[in-house]
Amino acid sequence: MRKSPIFILAIESSCDDTAAAVLKDDKVLSNVVARQSIHEEYGGVVPELASRAHQQNIVPVIDVALKKAGIDKTELSGIAFTQGPGLMGSLLVGGSFAKSMALSLDIPLVSVHHMHAHVLAHFIDEEGFDKPEFPFLAMTISGGHTQIIKVNSFFDMQIIGETTDDAVGEAFDKSAKILGLPYPGGPLIDKYAQLGNPKAFPFTKPKVSGLDFSFSGLKTQILYFVQKKTAENPNFIQENMNDICASIQHIIIEILMDKLKIAVQETGITQIAIGGGVSANSGIRNTLKETETKYGWKTFIPKFEYTTDNAAMIGIVGYYKFLENKFEDSSVVSKARIDF
Ligand code: KG4
Ligand code: ZN
Repeated sequence: MRKSPIFILAIESSCDDTAAAVLKDDKVLSNVVARQSIHEEYGGVVPELASRAHQQNIVPVIDVALKKAGIDKTELSGIAFTQGPGLMGSLLVGGSFAKSMALSLDIPLVSVHHMHAHVLAHFIDEEGFDKPEFPFLAMTISGGHTQIIKVNSFFDMQIIGETTDDAVGEAFDKSAKILGLPYPGGPLIDKYAQLGNPKAFPFTKPKVSGLDFSFSGLKTQILYFVQKKTAENPNFIQENMNDICASIQHIIIEILMDKLKIAVQETGITQIAIGGGVSANSGIRNTLKETETKYGWKTFIPKFEYTTDNAAMIGIVGYYKFLENKFEDSSVVSKARIDF
């Protein structure tokens, strides 16, 4: 007989955040993230530095997660970890740690797909947050991915649209870099955009058929625009920061919303759940909320701490896999690329 409740320790280390969480069934007891500021000065994540920082952070982060949850490691029912996709050196740190801890405690090990976790973060039991019903559409927008996913059940989902080049988070971050803003620039564009005019500088949308996205052309367009304007006026960026950011954010939101509308049309599904770091964007949140009255969609935006990379989302997938005995043995390997 399985003990109830189920306590899962979840570990996430796919990119530049070392994260651990403890869940009691589908409730989060603790959710700890150690962000790596070292990458800021390089304008992007440096894989070698990320894996070294994970090695330094992983023990204290897990320790704090267990302490905050008030759980001793001997009480754990299972350990969930991010198997991929992500940076190999980073994934290996979390994966190896999870494996050896599960082995030493003699409890089940559960592997989790990072992108499934962004989708299923909506099923964390949290007061004031509704859970979507199957089937629903998930739009996962982060620094590494831009996908529209048809979610039929916990373990049956298919990608129906994705980026052909840069992810939307990269579009934000690279645009921010062009404007001389530090990495990650997405939140700063969001901040300035709130004070600017979204129609000040009209950028054009890329022409990509169907449900796929492309953001690399937009980045080039912004680069040429800024170069031309600063040649005319060296203070162009400083004098127009709010309007430039508002215009960039506006075009990115339009690109995302255009594709979502097609996805709704094609599938007939009007429940939309967003996830990934970019779903923290206030413009995207507001625009999405407006569709509830405008088109009768029902939208789901997770709590902020479950939206950017975190281990609680790994834990919720771990919990549902645990319920179905979807366990791994110690031969499981981390994968930089992994099938959806
Ligand atoms: O999901 P996440 O934490 O990590 C990845 O898996 O990529 O997403 C990070 C991305 C970065 O590109 C960051 O600039 C972007 O999310 N981001 C934002 C905002 N907050 C984070 N982009 C726009 N507006 C925001 N408020
Ligand atoms: Zn992510």
